[in-house]
Amino acid sequence: MSSKKIDGKAIGQEIRNELKEEVASLVAQGVQPGLAVILVGENSASETYVKNKEKSSKEAGMKSILTKLPDTVSEEDLLAEVEKLNQDDTIDGILVQLPLPKHIDENKVIRAISPEKDVDGFHPMNVGKMLIGQETFLPCTPYGIMQLLERSNVDIAGKHAVIIGRSNIVGKPMGQLLLQKDATVTYCHSRTEDLKKFTQQADILIVAIGIAKFITGDYIKEDAVVIDVGMNRDENGKLCGDVDYESAEKQASAITPVPGGVGPMTITMLLKNTVESAENKLK
Ligand code: GUN
Repeated sequence: MSSKKIDGKAIGQEIRNELKEEVASLVAQGVQPGLAVILVGENSASETYVKNKEKSSKEAGMKSILTKLPDTVSEEDLLAEVEKLNQDDTIDGILVQLPLPKHIDENKVIRAISPEKDVDGFHPMNVGKMLIGQETFLPCTPYGIMQLLERSNVDIAGKHAVIIGRSNIVGKPMGQLLLQKDATVTYCHSRTEDLKKFTQQADILIVAIGIAKFITGDYIKEDAVVIDVGMNRDENGKLCGDVDYESAEKQASAITPVPGGVGPMTITMLLKNTVESAENKLK
């Protein structure tokens, strides 16, 4: 059967249009949402990502500031920078781009961010709130995937969702969000034996492995919904996902492309969390 492409570019734009209106309404009330990004060291992937964040937040009418620190920065100085932003009333969201250099304790930096400004949803307090279903900032990639599923009218309740990947940023929170919407959730990872046995049972398959075109059509149940979180370069240097789109789309009822699927959603949800944080100030 032919499949339906889930268009993250269009859905992301739709949400950013909604946000633009919310931002305008906040500005009219004297509050301009502000996002601060801290980038440590030189990493071209991170720089591209950070540039896109700045561009999107400005387009939405938000304030955006970028602090670049050398990769020799001490943990103490980085923590001081975070604290300065915690105290800054014009800043509603703080994001420290990961990964950080080896000499800096990432967990310590994440814990230093005020939970009220933790728009990444990485602070242990916010992770805990998410786990028990309390309102909080949700991690941007899983949050964006939930929006893709919901806005594409994918049924979640009672469905078997299989997640490949167990990172703190994507896999783990993804499973929890799907569980909260009453999916039956299976986590697979690098030590899973007979991966195909699980993926072939998935009504919803979320793929975050980090290996180009690893999941081919034979891993996919007919009419499954396939979400590809991967961002790789193929043998010709072209951007591609963890799913082999060509063979997968023959099996799937709906599938996200790379690029133009999950990617545009991550930044969008970061902006949404920042706007929400600014709205919380008025409550
Ligand atoms: N590095 C890769 N993805 C992310 C993200 O979502 N947030 C942060 N802070 N760093 C990242």
